[in-house]
Amino acid sequence: MSFDLVFFGGTGDLTWRKLMPALFQAFRHGKLPADGRILAVARDERSDADYRQFIRERFVDVDSSKRPSDDEFDRFAALLHYRRMDLSQPADYAGLKTWLDERGADTAVLYLATSPHLFPVICEQLGAAGLNGPKVRVVLEKPLGHDLASAQEINRVVRSVFTERQAFRIDHYLGKPAVQNLMALRFANALFEPLWRRECISNIQITLAESIGVGTRGDFYDRTGCLRDMVQNHALQLLTMIAMEPPSTNDADAIRDEKLKVLKSLRPFTPESVARDVLRGQYKAGTVDGKSVPGYLDEVKVPHDSACETFVALRTEVQNWRWAGVPFYLRTGKRLAARDAQIVVNFREVPHPIFPGSSRANKLVIKLQPEDGLELHLLAAKGSGQSDALSPVSLDLDFDKAFPTERVGAYERLLLDAIAGRLNLFVRSDEQEQAWRWVEPILDTWAQDTSDLKTYTAGSWGPPAASAMVARDGFAWAEEQ
Ligand code: BG6
Repeated sequence: MSFDLVFFGGTGDLTWRKLMPALFQAFRHGKLPADGRILAVARDERSDADYRQFIRERFVDVDSSKRPSDDEFDRFAALLHYRRMDLSQPADYAGLKTWLDERGADTAVLYLATSPHLFPVICEQLGAAGLNGPKVRVVLEKPLGHDLASAQEINRVVRSVFTERQAFRIDHYLGKPAVQNLMALRFANALFEPLWRRECISNIQITLAESIGVGTRGDFYDRTGCLRDMVQNHALQLLTMIAMEPPSTNDADAIRDEKLKVLKSLRPFTPESVARDVLRGQYKAGTVDGKSVPGYLDEVKVPHDSACETFVALRTEVQNWRWAGVPFYLRTGKRLAARDAQIVVNFREVPHPIFPGSSRANKLVIKLQPEDGLELHLLAAKGSGQSDALSPVSLDLDFDKAFPTERVGAYERLLLDAIAGRLNLFVRSDEQEQAWRWVEPILDTWAQDTSDLKTYTAGSWGPPAASAMVARDGFAWAEEQ
């Protein structure tokens, strides 16, 4: 199958930091369909050779195991092309169309790796140039809008040019192998599904902790904040995967219909419940990985009086028969104690303990990163004959060890899916809008008054109030159990 993959924003951070390294991995693994061209589009004048050199230099920042040798890079670089475009100029789109039509590849994937405020104009121009035929797919990077109204506006324009099946909205968390494994765990194994409900599960915790700060993205981050950057998309997508009903097939719409139902079942927030169940924090200077790091207000391009949140913890419920009354806690932030993304499913305690000592509830830990695996925590007898007291043990499954050669990164997986036209791991417009609808009362309440913003020391697990929020229900975050 021949393909052309076009990156709008071809010299931007996302393209060289994430997309090119991911494509190179696909190329190295022999997964990239053979007859492909990759075209970077940006404003300035460059030749193909200049662009190849630009990317070659950027690969120095890539993890050494994922860096190409000179020979590998040369072979990969032969796929790379560059084209100058002014995104407001119809003639430049016509030129792009001619370039694509001359070869007439089976598929053209147009990846909008630009600032989202350009999405409407790019889509309109693509439509006007006739670059929206059935062979074309458009990939849209987050953030898709700033609130419900702006997301709806982007979707309106996208839908006026492309069909929903041509639109690939990326949430790169869905491309993480652990998330695909969550589908397999739940719907390819009979073991857990009967237990996956309120009768057996006491609470679910989703933690997306980062140890990095905002780095050089202070201006973007300060306009965005943690709720928009991580909760509205990544954390909520994970929640839908945990809470959804079994889809009737493994097709994109069957899956996305079920995810949408979860989003619609989330308990809506009111100003009172925002005050009670949603917590925002901002990091102060501290120590991360043994190094002193500045507070958020001293980061580059961040206003000194910013009230932007770098941490969010919240409690919600999925209001349906399966989950009624089960708290779902989401927590995410920058400059936390560790880079650690995991979902913890806490089961209920046994109804009538017969062993001495503390009884401990089972828990299933779905680890997304840095490791990718599953841990099932159980109680077991040591068999020492000294006492009947039980010991905690865990069954560990490390997917990197189980499938050492087959693992592919999130962007690699999603790029290959976009080229192949598989929509399963992409977000549909109604899901995305529903997620905005749900977070909007939080944004509105926060906009009224910022006095509830808590601070936390960089290198901690966030404001202590996050622990208090969970303790109110008689539970504790995984690292405190
Ligand atoms: C991005 C956010 O979507 O996800 C970043 O904009 C964040 O702020 C990143 O750092 C986290 O992704 P990952 O895959 O490194 O956990």
